Amino acid sequence: MSAFSERVWFITGSSSGFGRALVEQVIASGERVVATARNPETLADLELRAPDQLRVFALDVTEVARVTEVVALAKDAWGRLDVVVNNAGYGLIGALEEYSLPQIERNLATNLMGPIHVMRAALPIFRAQKSGHFINLSAAAAISNYAGFSVYGGAKAALELVSESVRAETAPFGIKVTLVEPGPFRTDFIGRSLERADQQIEPYAATSGKFLGFLEKINGRQPGDPDRAAAAIVSVSREANPPFRLVLGKYAIDKTRRQLTARGNELNTWEATGLATDFTPPAS
Ligand SMILES: NC(=O)c1ccc[n+]([C@@H]2O[C@H](COP(=O)([O-])OP(=O)(O)OC[C@H]3O[C@@H](n4cnc5c(N)ncnc54)[C@H](OP(=O)(O)O)[C@@H]3O)[C@@H](O)[C@H]2O)c1
Repeated sequence: MSAFSERVWFITGSSSGFGRALVEQVIASGERVVATARNPETLADLELRAPDQLRVFALDVTEVARVTEVVALAKDAWGRLDVVVNNAGYGLIGALEEYSLPQIERNLATNLMGPIHVMRAALPIFRAQKSGHFINLSAAAAISNYAGFSVYGGAKAALELVSESVRAETAPFGIKVTLVEPGPFRTDFIGRSLERADQQIEPYAATSGKFLGFLEKINGRQPGDPDRAAAAIVSVSREANPPFRLVLGKYAIDKTRRQLTARGNELNTWEATGLATDFTPPAS
């Protein structure tokens, strides 16, 4: 029996992609998992395969009362929660003015408010246990954003800063927080999980339209392997000091390096302008 076999995971959006790959690997590693999905039928085969290690609940992360209920049911299943993975999410592609307001609100409700609801429901449990690990799926769009991903990337970037604050607030209680920043991985993300803007405004063809073309071109050929991503996530969940940011795949790692360099260069270029805004220190 492994040292981690007592742990209980809670995963949102487990029907496909990263979520399902994680459920499978957690089961294979001998740990227990509460897997949630909008359609629990998608996990019926795994329930048959591992009835002692898996509980499945229907959950749409935008329904806050249901989130509270399901997190409580999850804790009751085996008396504890150790790793909570905010994985459920989907893309919204188009220029900001091409989206309808309901499209924007739905995307923020899922990608930003969903993880906030789940964390708020799990925090009292983690605090009482004096342990727990939130693993929140962010995206390369939050490292630096693309034309066409304003709301999706904005939601993920906001989730990053919420997570950073939660980490600072809860570290004294033994709670850990990790952001996962994947580049393009071969899941259903560019397929059924990428919603198009309700209207197309022709001049945006050269910017957000071009980015959609890029995504469509790489669909099915994304360099990232979701099974390997799941293995990396399980592996960092076992670290005494897990990373705050886990950047997955060469694409996102290269992008992060470029972004850090560009940001440092810009800071240096505009440093004198920024420094000149402080009060002049009194002459001593
Ligand atoms: N694959 C990539 O290249 C990539 C890159 C960066 C970040 N990500 C992030 O990775 C996460 C997982 O995506 P994936 O790549 O594994 O794509 P996926 O296979 O399409 O999985 C997305 C999952 O999110 C679920 N979901 C969407 N809205 C939901 C809601 N309101 N409530 C509950 N579940 C909901 C979907 O459930 P249904 O089956 O019910 O639709 C599905 O299980 C997302 O947060 C995504 O933003 C993916």
